[in-house]
Amino acid sequence: MENAPFLHQPVLLEEVLAWLDPRPGQVLLDGTVGGGGHSAALLERIGPDGFLYGLDQDPAALEAATERLSKVSDRFKLIRSNFAKLGTLDLPPLDGILLDIGVSSPQLDQGSRGFSFQQAGPLDMRMDPDAPATAAELLATLSETELARIFYEYGEERHGRRVARAIVQDRKEKPYTDTLTFAEFLKRVIPRDPSGIHSATRVFQALRIAVNDELGVLTRVLPAAIASLKPGGKLAVISFHSLEDRIVKHFFRDAAKGCICPGRQPMCTCGKLPSVEVLTGKPVTASASELDCNPRSRSAKLRVARRLPES
Ligand SMILES: C[S@@+](CC[C@H](N)C(=O)[O-])C[C@H]1O[C@@H](n2cnc3c(N)ncnc32)[C@H](O)[C@@H]1O
Repeated sequence: MENAPFLHQPVLLEEVLAWLDPRPGQVLLDGTVGGGGHSAALLERIGPDGFLYGLDQDPAALEAATERLSKVSDRFKLIRSNFAKLGTLDLPPLDGILLDIGVSSPQLDQGSRGFSFQQAGPLDMRMDPDAPATAAELLATLSETELARIFYEYGEERHGRRVARAIVQDRKEKPYTDTLTFAEFLKRVIPRDPSGIHSATRVFQALRIAVNDELGVLTRVLPAAIASLKPGGKLAVISFHSLEDRIVKHFFRDAAKGCICPGRQPMCTCGKLPSVEVLTGKPVTASASELDCNPRSRSAKLRVARRLPES
């Protein structure tokens, strides 16, 4: 797996194209360029007069995407950046933005990245290899209370407190630094789940979210993304678990609302105007045929909003 080509099958590709509806000459941003699957399709649609910006915090993804996109067009620029910094990048007003958040298949499958409890590797889990703390460092330094919170809030792991206590008890003599040893430890500490899900699943998810501050960066990018759109421009967000989807849903709902003054107030004093129209009532999910050929599309949810002309 280590030297395998960077292969990531884009999820909800047809749906993204249908909802974003990219047109020749448009300027787009793919905030999570990954292997470039979505970007390549967007580039084709915007043609020689369009332009695509792509962001990723993982240099391996940018390298793979550069190679792939160069075969389609030269009308793109890739930038190594966390999408949370979107507001600080000097980009022109955009016709459309895509965020396909989470990790890519190559990140998950390469043992050396430390995301998988089924592949031997260091407990790393950083999408940005220069980010400050690895999963092993969090396990070695966070308090029992903080670890328990992370496992419960980000992994919905009912046994989070028990796991945190056992880590803190063990860690002076036996710090957890590799994926398989840690997964074995979780198997011993967490009672077997009747659904058959591996005991390490939830704790690994929680650690990954904490290491990459996934909920924090999503919360920060959404207002910056709307502000970066031209009036009428669209933002499409694909998320892969309920915590992320809830953030997107609530952000879109609040941004679509006008006045937020208390109901008993006779006149509006807040002056808030809706800044978006939400285009997807319910989140868009994968079709039966996509589910058949790409199991990773199972939990994908797409939501799309359009910036209002007068906002
Ligand atoms: C699900 S993959 C995207 C796959 C891509 N749409 C494709 O078709 O190949 C997510 C990518 O976004 C990147 N990523 C995740 N969070 C990010 C963030 N906060 N800032 C920048 N890149 C991020 C990851 O490194 C990964 O390469």
